[in-house]
Amino acid sequence: MAVVDTFHRPLRDLRVSVTDRCNFRCPYCMPKEIYGRKWAFLPRNELLTFEEISRLVRIFASLGVEKVRLTGGEPLLRQELEQLIRMLASIEELQDLTLTTNGSLLASRAERLKEAGLKRVTISLDSLDETTFMAMNDVKFPLAQVLEGIEAATKAGLMPIKVNMVVKRGVNDQDIVPMARYFRHSGHTVRFIEYMDVGHTNDWRWEEVVSAQEIIDQIGAHWPLERIASPYPEEVATRYRYGDGGGEIGIIASVTQPFCRDCTRARLAADGQLYTCLFGSRSYDLRRRLRNGCSDADLAAFLKLIWWRRNDRYSELRSAATVSFDKVEMSRIGG
Ligand code: GTP
Ligand code: 5AD
Ligand code: SF4
Ligand code: SF4
Repeated sequence: MAVVDTFHRPLRDLRVSVTDRCNFRCPYCMPKEIYGRKWAFLPRNELLTFEEISRLVRIFASLGVEKVRLTGGEPLLRQELEQLIRMLASIEELQDLTLTTNGSLLASRAERLKEAGLKRVTISLDSLDETTFMAMNDVKFPLAQVLEGIEAATKAGLMPIKVNMVVKRGVNDQDIVPMARYFRHSGHTVRFIEYMDVGHTNDWRWEEVVSAQEIIDQIGAHWPLERIASPYPEEVATRYRYGDGGGEIGIIASVTQPFCRDCTRARLAADGQLYTCLFGSRSYDLRRRLRNGCSDADLAAFLKLIWWRRNDRYSELRSAATVSFDKVEMSRIGG
């Protein structure tokens, strides 16, 4: 039975982080100085197993979840991920099964992911300029390999493909128009994301945010845009269409135009902690309950209670004061 929170928002989407590791060190997410050699990533026995994840997803599905997105860190670093995808693809209630990846390992995996039952992928790509891209992944990862990944995903039919670009002032804002140009007429949708104050390690500052309006103005000056409706109200991106038939773009404006009102997302970290907001500090330990022999009915009752009490709306409350609040790091819950 559908469950709603204190603002009558149903539980529809579940983002599942399958690992806290990543092969990139994007400074806005996992800055090298913090996530260096000494950083203690989760040991294997603390990660939920595939059986535990799929058991939880089944329970979530019984409460109304229709869409599951696998995240990380970098989800393709989790060994045998295809096996988990196969298990999740057999859950009848799920209408969408997708994954957000940095694209680095996609070229060799796209076919197998599709075969396992993944429906589509979203690829993070912050610049089409090699120097800027390498600075933004901070491990000198070559751009060409991610572009090959996008091509492989297209060939494998992991569609529709979305490309996420986080825009940071003074770092990659000069790449907004080139990114739009490159993906026009490609059939793929680029989503420009306002840089958010997730976690603390990125040392976020308001001045570094390029607003949705600025992004639209920059792109619109080259190719006229018209706003279009989203097919589902809980979508985080606002959609625009090129007037000349060049396709669509999306803007994710969590900072200047918060969308908490329609937020139907829960987030499960790789160690089984459940968060009800991207900016949450509080989490609920599902792993302990799974490993203590809780029944499906007990777990479902616990999840219902968590959702029923939920009152998160961080982006609507964001202010100079909230930036320093205790918040979970992005790499633990994958955005
Ligand atoms: P679609 O299913 O294709 O609409 O994907 P998505 O946009 O929900 O997921 P994706 O992983 O591509 O996320 C894109 C960006 O939106 C990331 O920067 C996320 O952190 C951000 N985002 C996703 N969900 C939320 C949310 O609930 N709140 C906020 N503030 N940002 C979110
Ligand atoms: N602000 C906005 N988006 C972010 N992402 C990671 N960190 C941030 C941030 N601070 C994006 C990634 C990926 C998605 C899951 O979240 O680039 O596309
Ligand atoms: Fe890795 Fe994505 Fe974080 Fe970059 S933003 S460090 S690719 S998890
Ligand atoms: Fe949902 Fe929290 Fe994001 Fe608002 S800030 S949309 S409540 S995850």
